[in-house]
Amino acid sequence: MAPTVAIAPTPVESAETDLLAVPVFTGGALGPGGEALDAALGGDVTSVLAETGFKAKAGEAVFVPVAGRVAAGAAVLVGLGERDRLDLAVLRRAAAGLARAARVRTDVTTVATTLAEVVPDGAEKTDAVRAVTEGLLLGAYRFTAYKSEPDGSELERIELLGRGGARLARTVERAATVCEAVAWARDVVNEPSGGKSPAAFAEMARERLEGRGVEVSILDEAGIEAERLGGVAGVGQGSARPPRFVTVTYSPPKARATLALVGKGVVFDSGGISIKPSSGMETMKTDMSGAAAVLAAMSVLDALDVKAKVVAYVPMVENMPSGSAIRPGDVLRIRNGKTVEVLNTDAEGRLILADGLARAVEDGADAIVDVATLTGACVVALGEKVAGLMGNRDPFVDQVRGAAERAGERVWHLPLPADYKALLDSSVADIQNISEGRWGGALTAGLFLEAFVDGTPWAHLDIAGPARASRDDGEHLKGGTGFGVRTLVELASSFRRPAARDRDPDRAGGRHGS
Ligand code: BES
Ligand code: MN
Ligand code: ZN
Repeated sequence: MAPTVAIAPTPVESAETDLLAVPVFTGGALGPGGEALDAALGGDVTSVLAETGFKAKAGEAVFVPVAGRVAAGAAVLVGLGERDRLDLAVLRRAAAGLARAARVRTDVTTVATTLAEVVPDGAEKTDAVRAVTEGLLLGAYRFTAYKSEPDGSELERIELLGRGGARLARTVERAATVCEAVAWARDVVNEPSGGKSPAAFAEMARERLEGRGVEVSILDEAGIEAERLGGVAGVGQGSARPPRFVTVTYSPPKARATLALVGKGVVFDSGGISIKPSSGMETMKTDMSGAAAVLAAMSVLDALDVKAKVVAYVPMVENMPSGSAIRPGDVLRIRNGKTVEVLNTDAEGRLILADGLARAVEDGADAIVDVATLTGACVVALGEKVAGLMGNRDPFVDQVRGAAERAGERVWHLPLPADYKALLDSSVADIQNISEGRWGGALTAGLFLEAFVDGTPWAHLDIAGPARASRDDGEHLKGGTGFGVRTLVELASSFRRPAARDRDPDRAGGRHGS
């Protein structure tokens, strides 16, 4: 169970909690509640700062003995770095560090902090409350499904010490709703593939979405065949566990625009006949992170009272080598009739996404976003923490970029150079699934996808890096991160149908000219 979060105007010295956390800046300036704590502890805060040489770098923490002089069981000073470098990301990271530190101590189940009273320049109080709530809740996450013994404590209650009010209470509630969705995404990403066949994953999605104001439909392998979803059928045919295609519709009354989300749901990517090296292959249980992010976002749209219509298209397959698998050289026919020569069966994500994109176009979406752990090349380009963002219309790309920024998820806009399209020319089919030559793999994957959106405003998030963390880091714990959920929820909440001139494929080529 996730901890509860409440705002309470309790003075620091009387907060009844296992762990009281007060921020400090580099140079020793105390944050909100610092002076009061120092006074209650007879100047011990000041002496600890002086004697330990604590630099208060962002993410650092030092304990101050309380010895019964305040109501809290223990007190910790949380570093926020330089005051004039403070931003929401630092605040979120510090809050996450606090939650992680609390969980290491087996005797801590409640935390109280004044962190949310620190408002970075240019931000609002609500932004600070949101960042701190997210940091605490996401940092408190653990994947314990397969642990026989609990390791560390389970946080039960978090108090944000400071002045509240209805607006801030609503901010906390919204942040908690989003974080709970992120936790679900992390859970399904962390789930081993053995228990995550396409059918099982589709059932997890159905269960999650039940009673959440959306309609769910699941196509099985026969339905996929009948609907001519040739990419999904083709990639799925090598596995003993057949594919599924999940559609989720959120349709509020009076919606004026429709956003489509497409998520890559490869429950395990062995590479297929173009098999991957065994080293690191276990991480490919996370190759359904895009699907997880899309489904998690869909699950909270109703609770967050999103005004736009949002439809999710989620292909689920297992990419396996076998006697029934697709071979290099095989040709698949995608839903929209286009044929693809499969030169590498490990470039499977784009094949199943193509069907999802084609479906979204067919249903008349005003704009489409796909989210996928698509290419190792994107990780080479941007590292493990930043997602690649590509698209065919700059104004819509900017909407997605703005949403990611407000949500605190890092993305970087990459180009889709029109002249690179030729690298995907096939001698037998309409297009081939890998580019000629090894360079620019994230971009050629993006260009492949663009061939299936038929000019609809579209953005592509390659989350191959940030979908998974290789160590604990800020609000991300080792394993699935749930990256993309916060951005998608933010985008859906603020979605505006791109202006007509931005939708004209002949007039708006984008800065990179596609
Ligand atoms: N799922 C992988 C991409 C991936 C790589 C995700 C590393 C996370 C970490 C994808 O299906 C894949 O195998 N892509 C190939 C494409 C290549 C064959 C053109 C890749 O990136 O090597
Ligand atoms: Mn692959
Ligand atoms: Zn893959």
